[in-house]
Amino acid sequence: MAEFETIAQGMILVRTGASKVARAAQPGQFVQRRGIVTQGLVSDDARAQTTPFDPQPYPIISVDATSGEITVLATTVDGDDSAITSTPTGLEWAVRGPLGQPISVDAAASHVAFIAQGDGIGAIIAVMREAAERGVRVTLMAGAANAWQLYPSHLLPDGVREMTATDDGSAGIRAPVTHLLPQVQDDADLLIAAGPKRLYEDLARMRADGLLTIPTTVMKLPRLECRDGECGKCAVQTTDGTRLACVEGPAFDLDEVE
Ligand code: FES
Repeated sequence: MAEFETIAQGMILVRTGASKVARAAQPGQFVQRRGIVTQGLVSDDARAQTTPFDPQPYPIISVDATSGEITVLATTVDGDDSAITSTPTGLEWAVRGPLGQPISVDAAASHVAFIAQGDGIGAIIAVMREAAERGVRVTLMAGAANAWQLYPSHLLPDGVREMTATDDGSAGIRAPVTHLLPQVQDDADLLIAAGPKRLYEDLARMRADGLLTIPTTVMKLPRLECRDGECGKCAVQTTDGTRLACVEGPAFDLDEVE
């Protein structure tokens, strides 16, 4: 039975049975949700009538291979949780995956910095956990509009050092999250970023201005229009040509993204 836990404004953790995904998933991967639940073909949201698969990608936060359950992060808009939680009692979410390429932090790295804005953090939780469990020093710079939109500190993987920034100053410094970078990057080996396009534009500007000096990966979780690399709607233009985020992503080198 799927279980739902609202952990922050607009963020819901969904725990559901998905034994095949739980066995295969690796950090950085995500799943796609079938809009029609399996038991009795009950429609669990309005889109199910026309869209067999939900286009929202759900990053895998953790897996329990023993129980065959996975936990993903779902995000909501304007406080409307119904599209996420309206699955009738007793039914699992039907998911497809794991999708995307796994991400492994460079084995030679001793300190990895992560930067996340809002619900973008879902894409890097499992990556941070894997790095921290290997003994890599992990620093997270987390930004949001306000304290209520931050991923809760107590749910972060063990060993993660967190710094925060909010637009209204209700947690951490009152500034864009990128303002934390100068304190971190001097002794970090690399940066992994997850958030909206605006965050990546800010990082690209900092790179151009010489203010971001370490190798940087950006996480681009695409809307899944087709799910099989066929429609081309998740195309990312890079210096290496067009790449498909649903198949080749979600991690791209900041310097290669155009
Ligand atoms: S979503 Fe269709 S090619 Fe990626």
